[in-house]
Amino acid sequence: MATRPLADEIGAIAAQYPERRSATLAALRLAQERRGWLPPEALREVADALDVTPAYCEAIASFYDMFHLAPVGRHLVEVCTNISCALVGAQQVLEAFEEQLGIGPGETSEDGEYTLRTIECAGGCGRAVVVAIDHRYREPVRPEDVPEIVEEFGGN
Ligand code: FES
Repeated sequence: MATRPLADEIGAIAAQYPERRSATLAALRLAQERRGWLPPEALREVADALDVTPAYCEAIASFYDMFHLAPVGRHLVEVCTNISCALVGAQQVLEAFEEQLGIGPGETSEDGEYTLRTIECAGGCGRAVVVAIDHRYREPVRPEDVPEIVEEFGGN
């Protein structure tokens, strides 16, 4: 089945709002789903579909942590290091991922498979340490769980 043009999808969402620019977050999300990140061309495409400027789209995309203005790996591993997770070993969980994946926070593996990031509170404090892999939560995660989690994703 052919993929519907992005501008058409954005147009359908924008039609639900009194102002087209109210659909910016949804439009950016759609654009990111298509490419995995938001290169300048994607920001331009969203801007054109919403009758706003690319700078407006970039300002919004750069504010929210879940938008990527640089390429990320096929799998995104995000470790919450905020207070509740920090108190029960987030640093050790992060180091276990660093060791397993061979990359540090903010880095992408050479084969493009993994990007490792730290994130602020993921809203799962009661089951810390929270790790999001491809936007799905694992909780609670302990350092000893990490090799099995990486194995599951076909990692090292
Ligand atoms: S501090 Fe980690 S989920 Fe809230």
